[in-house]
Amino acid sequence: MGKEIFEEYESNVRGYCRKWPIELVYAKGSIYKDIDGNEYIDFFDGAGALNYGHNPDYIKEKLISYLQEDGIIHSLDMYALPKEKFISYFETEILKPRKLDYKILFPGPTGTNAIEAALKLARKVTQRPDIWAFTGAFHGMTLGALALTTEAMARKAAGVSLNANVVHIPAPHFMNHNFDTIGYMEKLLEDDHSGYEKPAAIIIETVQQEGGIHVFSEQFLQDLRSFCDKHEILLICDEVQIGCSRSGTFFSFERAGIVPDIVCMSKSIGGYGLPFAITLLKRELDVFKPGEHNGTFRGCQLSIVAALAALEMTVKQDIPGMVKEKEEIVKEYLEANIKPLLKEDMEIRGIGLSWGIEFKDGKLARQVLDKCFEKKLIIELAGSNDSVLKIMPALVIEEELLIKGLDIITESIKEVLK
Ligand SMILES: Cc1ncc(COP(=O)(O)O)c(C=O)c1O
Repeated sequence: MGKEIFEEYESNVRGYCRKWPIELVYAKGSIYKDIDGNEYIDFFDGAGALNYGHNPDYIKEKLISYLQEDGIIHSLDMYALPKEKFISYFETEILKPRKLDYKILFPGPTGTNAIEAALKLARKVTQRPDIWAFTGAFHGMTLGALALTTEAMARKAAGVSLNANVVHIPAPHFMNHNFDTIGYMEKLLEDDHSGYEKPAAIIIETVQQEGGIHVFSEQFLQDLRSFCDKHEILLICDEVQIGCSRSGTFFSFERAGIVPDIVCMSKSIGGYGLPFAITLLKRELDVFKPGEHNGTFRGCQLSIVAALAALEMTVKQDIPGMVKEKEEIVKEYLEANIKPLLKEDMEIRGIGLSWGIEFKDGKLARQVLDKCFEKKLIIELAGSNDSVLKIMPALVIEEELLIKGLDIITESIKEVLK
């Protein structure tokens, strides 16, 4: 029957397959193969779920031997050996060296689950209902997380009002980099005629990914931390997409030297593209009663085996260091080859292995995406009106493939902007 089966029987809500109408059969490293034998370079990386590439051998071998031993797969939140090993490694190799002291909550296995747990916890701890998020935020599709997400189409689909108990604060870049976001928030809390109440928490993605690759400055993040301390507001960092070394440090907030109160992780924390999420919380915030927040698929042990192997790769292969080296390659490449092609109002932004080319025009960006696809590069758009081409290769991508992918972008932009 072929691809028509999807059109006939799969819900209309399917999305990515419309941009890239190929049927995938194989993937290794940064290469996809479709059913017709065509090869594509992957610069999308499962929206950040495949930081270690497709089917990385180190993780695959651990998964295969775990399956062969009939290791426990589903155990709800009963104690299980893979989880013990994961917690132990996470504690000694990830948290301790960074002087971080968090407890780990295992929510349902997706990013939006990690966010929902964080919101509920922050509200319970502070007994305040409001959460502040920033314009451009993307935190997931379930109602609580969707209320924080700003994208108009996704919000509209909720079918209910999302405006209760969430306030969007203009990010500095929202107003041409000039807006004094912290000053504005100060005023909202200080002035008894602002109409605003003190929130339970402020949530931030240190680099807005879906929002169009906007990197919050170190200064801003530090000022935000101070603001939260001053007003006793919890700071939540959404590391779902920018975490797991993509920014050049394991946690993206490390570059600013700040410590959030709650940290949400998913996507690449699952190592192999398997569903997994964790919500980290400062010890004193551990106020849920047993079973007060639960779910059937918390901490699938197979995902945890992969997650542990990914952490081992991170430490043994110094993946954050690898990212910093590749960051230089990408930065220099974009400066030298792509910037000269762009019009004055277009922009290049990014950090680590997350870069955006802002075309300011969604139609142009889509034309570039289509050209890239013709030339066998899978790459996504983000930002206002989908006007930002989002460069997000696997962190372990070979240099040759990285350059090949970047060359395809250059050629595509040349053809579209000629
Ligand atoms: C920053 C961020 N938070 C949360 C989510 C939601 O994750 P999920 O799609 O796994 O629910 C995403 C998904 O793209 C994300 O990028």
